[in-house]
Amino acid sequence: MSDVDPQTFRQFEHQGWQDIAARYHSGFAAVTTQSVVALLDSACVNRGSRVLDVACGPGYVAAAAVARGAVAMGMDFSSEMVEEARGRYPGIDFREGDAEQLPLSDSSFDAVVMNFGMLHLGRPETAIREAHRVLRSGGRLAFTVWSTPDKAAGFGIVLGAIQKYGNLNVPIPPGPPFFRFSDTEESKRVLSAAGFINIVVADVPQIWRLASPESLFDVMYNGSVRNAALLRAQKPDVLEKIRAEIRAQVEAAGSELSMPAVLVCGEKRN
Ligand SMILES: C[S@@+](CC[C@H](N)C(=O)[O-])C[C@H]1O[C@@H](n2cnc3c(N)ncnc32)[C@H](O)[C@@H]1O
Repeated sequence: MSDVDPQTFRQFEHQGWQDIAARYHSGFAAVTTQSVVALLDSACVNRGSRVLDVACGPGYVAAAAVARGAVAMGMDFSSEMVEEARGRYPGIDFREGDAEQLPLSDSSFDAVVMNFGMLHLGRPETAIREAHRVLRSGGRLAFTVWSTPDKAAGFGIVLGAIQKYGNLNVPIPPGPPFFRFSDTEESKRVLSAAGFINIVVADVPQIWRLASPESLFDVMYNGSVRNAALLRAQKPDVLEKIRAEIRAQVEAAGSELSMPAVLVCGEKRN
């Protein structure tokens, strides 16, 4: 991890999300939205809760919180994503802002939630400290990340195909390990160091129903950042082999992939 330059990685992620904001909904959202209920439940979001949805993307979690009667704000560092969210949910307060430097007051939220955002951050510990700062005592942070590729089949298939025909060590700005917070002990360690107690880590089962055997490649290539860069960096003939391998693996799996999330939750000590 020593070769990670968080600023360079942030710029890479930021540009990526600006570029794909309009396509995200038709790709990954069918899976990421499956963990929203569990995320809000674990953060004890109810009527009247003040909720911050960090890395909100198109705003699904903030909208689900509002549907429960909560008062929610969504924040994302991509202006394009913020526009997507505002267009989708016009009544909700969506703002541009960085998870690692929240432009918000101390102790102003009952719950901070982050659905599949942590694995895109160059400085995740800083974001966890920021979540802690803006939470009131006794408030909760809850976030999801993907399970490891042995369980999250979409990643297993894509990374396996690149490993088989291509090269995983391509020159893209290195970031923190994509599956770092999928590890229960690592998540507990980092939350505990930031001052959280009663930390719980759980699996959330999710199923990705792909429209066709080509969809997995298409979504990764057109609707993701780090994995898209990994694919785009392969030589054209190699990329065609990878595409064919992914298609064959999805066909063999029957176009329904297990894509569980890991849900991490902790409480700010009183
Ligand atoms: C995989 S999407 C998740 C979107 C949404 N939370 C969902 O449930 O589908 C990741 C989001 O994190 C945002 N993001 C990445 N790094 C960020 C940062 N440092 N601060 C705020 N948002 C960030 C991206 O712009 C993108 O919208």
